[in-house]
Parts: sequence; structure tokens; C-alpha cells
Amino acid sequence: MTAPLVTHVLKADAASVAEAARVLAAGGLVAFPTETVYGLGADATDGRAVARLYAAKGRPAFNPLIAHVVDLKAAQALARFNPKAARLAKAFWPGPLTLVLPKTARCRVADLATAGLDTIAVRVPDHVVAREILAAFGKPVVAPSANRSGHVSPTRAEHVQADLAGRIDLIIDGNATPVGVESTIIACLEEPVLLRPGGLPRTAIEAVLEQKLAYSPPGSPRAEDAPLAPGMLAAHYAPHTPLRLDVGQVDPGEALLAFGRKPAQGAAGALKTLNLSARADLIEAAANLFSHLRTLDAAGAPAIAVMPVPHEGLGEAINDRLRRAAAPR
Ligand code: TXA
Ligand code: MG
Repeated sequence: MTAPLVTHVLKADAASVAEAARVLAAGGLVAFPTETVYGLGADATDGRAVARLYAAKGRPAFNPLIAHVVDLKAAQALARFNPKAARLAKAFWPGPLTLVLPKTARCRVADLATAGLDTIAVRVPDHVVAREILAAFGKPVVAPSANRSGHVSPTRAEHVQADLAGRIDLIIDGNATPVGVESTIIACLEEPVLLRPGGLPRTAIEAVLEQKLAYSPPGSPRAEDAPLAPGMLAAHYAPHTPLRLDVGQVDPGEALLAFGRKPAQGAAGALKTLNLSARADLIEAAANLFSHLRTLDAAGAPAIAVMPVPHEGLGEAINDRLRRAAAPR
């Protein structure tokens, strides 16, 4: 890494959106809110900017990035849509869905951004600030979550600052991100496959496709004959404090990540408690997940006890992130 940068933080408005586009065009790195989590953007067509992005995150270069574009037409310049992919794009874009598709011959996204694959991940975000930046910049923007590689994804500008200050040029502060977990990733190469559960529930996708989706994270029995999301390493999205999942009984002094109205046994002895959703609402729980993990991580407890979260709707993505956060490192 070269000398530390001065990282400017600007509230989202017309002037800061224009500044974001200017910094991107100059090969700089700009963090901005999307509906899922904050992304760290770089000009997707500028190999040097993409290389700086990998360095700023400490991200392994074999882990490809998602190209963010303003609409389906812009996505079609980068990727080939088969009929099912087109159906999903029409149903869910803009929104928290990423499609992994074959790259087009005229795709100008830097090879480094796709890790040399002949496929590309594309998405059209549904956040006014992200959309205004994409429109003002006029080119695809690669944007991984704006955290240090392996750390918890940021849902607030302060999270980005905590991880990346001095390593990036600009943070556009657009308040907390509404969805709170990353986009759902579907590979649409032949049959659609779920690569990462996320902000769009599987059932919504299955309803549009009128078929069940196979789920192929690396390490699953089907993973060998399916395309991978190479970034789906087991230990990912991780706080520093160890996590204990599906806890019914809290040990004294543990931090507690609660869910629902009914307290876990021993909850009164917790060092600090945060509830993902006291009314057991999975949408609210997803929005709170990463922020609560960061806060409890800073509490200085020996472990974070996590109450069970139902595995339906956004619960699939929440449980996926919790399992990864709890994986041994
Ligand atoms: O919600 C989101 O998707 C956020 C916001 C900022 O848009 N972005 C995000 O990016 O989560 P990132 O880089 O943290 O995760 C991208 C995932 C990685 O697991 C990567 O391996 C996978 O997408 N991916 C990218 N290109 C791929 C490809 N061609 N084939 C398979 N997986 C791919
Ligand atoms: Mg990430």
C-alpha cells in the first residue's frame, strides 16, 4: 500500500454525487450506499482503479466483483441474458439481486474485476444515491461491500470509516442501508442456481421462475458441478469475538444477540444485549444484523451468544451470514 489517503466524508446530495462521479472518473475509490450494504466503487473498466480497490480491501484477487449498472440495457452490454435471466431482471431490477451470466464479447470490464472468468456478476441497485452516482458516472462501477476483506459488511457510513479510512478517497453518507444484507446471487448459465442467499428471498425468485432453486455454496455436495461464488469462503462476514449460534442458555458475561420477544435463559446475566427484532420481523432483523454484530463485537465479551432465527424469507440469508461469522478461522 502507498501513502495513506485523506478520506473525505460527504452527506449525499447533488454536489457530493457529482464529486463521486468525478473521483470515479479519475480512477479513485468511492464508498456509497446501496439498498443492501455500502459498496466500495471503482471504475469497472479501469484496471488500475480495480487493482487499487483490491488493495484497499485486502481482498484476494481471485475473488471477482459485481458490476453495478443503472439499468437492464447497460447490463446487456456486459452480459448475455438467457430467457430466465431476462425474466428475473425484469421482475426484480432495480433490487437486491445479482445475476452471474456469460460475459459479452464487447464487455469492457477489466479482467481483474472478473478474476479472469468468462462470466460476470451484474446488478442494478435500488437506492437513489447509488443510482444517481451510476447515472452521473455513465459507466459500470464494480463495488464489493465496503469493508476490509473478511470483516462484517457495512450498513452505515461510520462502519465504512472504521474499516477503510485512509485507504479510499471518498465516502458518501446516505444513512443506514434499508435491507442490511448483501444481494442474493443467482447464476443463470444453464439452469439457475442460488450461489448466495441475500436480500431477495429465494421464494420470490422461485415464484417468478416457477421452479425450485438448487443452492450451491462451495463445499456443498453439488458444488463441484456448479459454478461458485469464489468469495463465499466459509469464514467471512466475521467479527473478532467468537459467535455461539442457536443459543437457548446464555453464559454469564457473554454478549447476546437476541431475536423475538421471549428472552433466552440466562439473558439477564449478559454483558450487553441487542435484539435483531423484538417483534420477530425478519426484514427488521436483516437490517440490524451487521450493525448489531459490530456493536456487540466492541463490547469486550468472551463470546457473542446468538438466539435461533427462523430459516424462512430473509432468515436464510441471516442464518448464512451468522454461520459464516461463526466459522472457525
Ligand atoms: O449487495 C451486494 O451484492 C453488495 C453491494 C455493495 O452491491 N456487494 C457485494 O459484493 O456483496 P461482494 O464483492 O462482497 O460479493 C460479491 C460476491 C462474491 O462472493 C464473489 O465471489 C461473487 O459475488 N461473484 C462475483 N463475480 C462472480 C462470478 N463471475 N461468478 C461467481 N461468483 C461471482
Ligand atoms: Mg463482501
